[in-house]
Amino acid sequence: MSGKFMDAEEIRRKAREAWRNNARCIGRSIWESLELLDARGAKSHEEVFEACLRHLEFSTNGGRIRSAITVFEPVARKERGIRIWNSQLIRYAGYRVRDGSILGDPEQAEFTARLMELGWEPPASRSRFDVLPLAIELPGKGVKLYEIPRQYVLEVPIRHPEFEWFEKLGLRWHALPAISDMAFVFDDCKFTAAPFSGYYMVTEIAVRNFGDENRYNMLPAVAEKLGLATNERGSFWKDRALVELCSAVMHSFKEAGVSMVDHHSAGQQFMKFVQKEEANGRSVPGDWTWLVPPMAGSSMDMYFRGYDKSRPEPAFKYQKPAWKNDRVSESAKASGCPFHS
Ligand code: ARG
Repeated sequence: MSGKFMDAEEIRRKAREAWRNNARCIGRSIWESLELLDARGAKSHEEVFEACLRHLEFSTNGGRIRSAITVFEPVARKERGIRIWNSQLIRYAGYRVRDGSILGDPEQAEFTARLMELGWEPPASRSRFDVLPLAIELPGKGVKLYEIPRQYVLEVPIRHPEFEWFEKLGLRWHALPAISDMAFVFDDCKFTAAPFSGYYMVTEIAVRNFGDENRYNMLPAVAEKLGLATNERGSFWKDRALVELCSAVMHSFKEAGVSMVDHHSAGQQFMKFVQKEEANGRSVPGDWTWLVPPMAGSSMDMYFRGYDKSRPEPAFKYQKPAWKNDRVSESAKASGCPFHS
């Protein structure tokens, strides 16, 4: 049966399987807890936007994060469906500054520029943590932009349990990672808009978002505050900065009452999941390079084995970024100023 008329219960089952199948996710042990929000009836830009807000509210749940997926109207495999242009429902802007550097999240710089081209006006005083508006496209009806009201965006200011200076780095992060640009597919059915979310693992923020050189690039600043010589390889300044970033992020989320898992617990839970799957006669699709956390990998059992190379469906799949498609930008222009708040 086409996903358009399928029973919500059946779609929920498929979505849980898609999560269970996801080769890159270390957090799959709780795949059976995924909740489905059925927004297949959303027909207008506004209705899609409102369902996104309901998703944020339900999944954030005041900090006690609930894993959830919202499904919008599906299409057949080759058709073009509803698209949320943002890679996640909550992401921070990256502004190109005159000297060539970037204020905010460099990962979002190109997308931020695109949104500004479409009429988005950043806050009067720009910061490193300005939440981007949602860009929602309906097939044949162009794209519209929507500012997310503050109360839907739970954020955690980052402090360190011991170092008072840490807070002055001015770091913060959003509580909810909600992937919004992947397709959820099974049989001949494709949900081109199906945002899903769960809680964070500490390294995603501390090691990658803050530590990566092409993201917030915080290792030199943290190491300097720790009094480490950043020119000496033997001082392991990067390693030590990473550990303190993890402590700070984990501590701050805990204090704020926001769900988060540390990578060691996540690794253990993942191994339990693997054992359970194998006991049920299923092998575990897995991509080692994504599964093993970016820190302390070899301290975890999951480091020492391989995973199934098959990629079964139901699945979450990458799609071509909708905002890079010229045909769409033309139709967006045709519909006038797409900005709505
Ligand atoms: N790594 C991504 C980020 O930092 C989020 C990916 C999904 N993560 C999750 N725990 N569900 O925003």
